[in-house]
Amino acid sequence: MLLFVGLLAWGQGVHQLCQQCHTEAASDVEEHAHFRKGVTCASCHGSSEKHRLATGHAPPDRVATRAQVVALCGSCHPAERKSYETSKHWAALQAGAKAAQCATCHGNHAPRAVAKMERTCLSCHASLPAACAGAGKTDAKLRCATCHPAHGFAKR
Ligand code: HEC
Ligand code: HEC
Ligand code: HEC
Ligand code: HEC
Ligand code: HEC
Ligand code: HEC
Repeated sequence: MLLFVGLLAWGQGVHQLCQQCHTEAASDVEEHAHFRKGVTCASCHGSSEKHRLATGHAPPDRVATRAQVVALCGSCHPAERKSYETSKHWAALQAGAKAAQCATCHGNHAPRAVAKMERTCLSCHASLPAACAGAGKTDAKLRCATCHPAHGFAKR
C-alpha cells in the first residue's frame, strides 16, 4: 500500500514537470481513469529526464510506434490484447496496412466514449454491408460491438 502511494506520488510529480510544456496532453490525461489510478506520463514515456532538461533536442525515453502500442497497452490490459491479436486488424497491422490498433480507437491520452470510437470505425469502413443495419448513427440503438465482439472485432 505504501509502495503504491509512493509510486502514485512519484508519477504525479513527473506529470507536473511534463505539464509545463505539454498542457494539452496533461489535461487530456487528467480526464482518464488512468490518472486516478496513477498511470501517467512516466508509465508510457518513461521519466524522460534528458528530454526535459537538455538544452538541445533530446527525445523522450519511450515513444511507442503504431505497432508497439499494442505491447505497451497490452502490458497492463492482457485480456484485451489477447482478444485483439485474434482480429484481422492485428493481421493487417503486422502486414504494414493502416489498420486500427489500441490508440486508433481509444486515443493516446483522453478517454473516448463508445459513440466516438464508432465514428472512428466509419473513417476506415466507409461503406458497410446491409447486415450492419445502420449502426454507427448518432441515435443508433445497436453498437458495432453488439455483433462484432470487442476486441476481436473481425470475428463474428
Ligand atoms: C521544456 C519543455 C518540455 C518539457 C518539460 C517536456 N517536453 Fe516533451 N516535448 C517538448 C518539445 C518542444 C517537443 C517537440 C519537439 C521534440 O520532439 O523535441 C516535445 C515532444 C514530446 C513527445 C513527442 C515525441 C515524438 O517523437 O513524437 C513526447 C512523447 C514528449 N514530449 C513527452 C514528454 C514527457 C513524458 C515529459 C515529462 C517527463 C515531457 N515531454 C516534458 C518539450 C518539453
Ligand atoms: C497510457 C499511455 C500514455 C500515457 C499515460 C501518456 N501518453 Fe503520451 N502518448 C501515448 C501514445 C501511445 C502516443 C502516440 C505515439 C505515437 O505517435 O506513435 C503518445 C503521444 C504523445 C505525444 C505526441 C503526440 C500527441 O498526441 O500529443 C506527446 C507530446 C505526449 N504523448 C506527451 C504525454 C504527456 C506529457 C503525458 C502525461 C501528461 C502522456 N503523454 C501520457 C501514450 C501515453
Ligand atoms: C501501467 C499500466 C497501464 C498501461 C500501460 C495502460 N493502461 Fe489502461 N488502464 C490501467 C488501469 C490501472 C486502468 C483503470 C482500471 C480500473 O479503474 O478498473 C486502466 C483503464 C483503461 C481503460 C478504461 C477506462 C475507463 O474509463 O474505464 C481503457 C479504455 C484503457 N485503460 C485503455 C488503455 C490504452 C489504449 C492504453 C495504451 C495507449 C493503456 N490503457 C495503457 C492501466 C494501464
Ligand atoms: C477497433 C477499435 C478498438 C481497438 C483496436 C481496441 N479497442 Fe478497446 N475498446 C473498443 C470499444 C468499442 C470498447 C467498448 C466496448 C464495449 O463497451 O462493449 C473498448 C473497450 C476497452 C476497454 C474497457 C473494457 C471495460 O471493461 O470497460 C479497455 C481496457 C480496452 N478497450 C483496451 C484496449 C487495448 C489494450 C487495445 C489494444 C490491444 C484495444 N482496446 C484495442 C474499441 C477498440
Ligand atoms: C485505421 C483504420 C481502421 C479502423 C479505425 C477500424 N478498422 Fe476495421 N479493419 C481495418 C482493416 C485494414 C481491416 C482488414 C481488412 C482485410 O483484412 O481485408 C479491418 C477489418 C475489419 C473487420 C473484418 C472484416 C472481414 O472481412 O472479416 C471488421 C468486422 C472490422 N474491421 C470492424 C471494425 C470496427 C467495429 C471498428 C471500430 C470499433 C473498426 N473496424 C475500426 C481498418 C480499420
Ligand atoms: C446487427 C449486427 C451488426 C451490427 C450492429 C454491425 N455489423 Fe458489421 N457485419 C455484420 C454481419 C452479419 C456481417 C457480414 C456480412 C457479409 O459478409 O455480407 C458484417 C460485416 C462487416 C464488415 C466486413 C465488410 C466486408 O466488406 O466484408 C465490416 C468492416 C463491418 N461489418 C463493420 C461494422 C461496423 C464498423 C459496425 C458499427 C458501425 C458494424 N459493422 C455493425 C453484422 C453487424
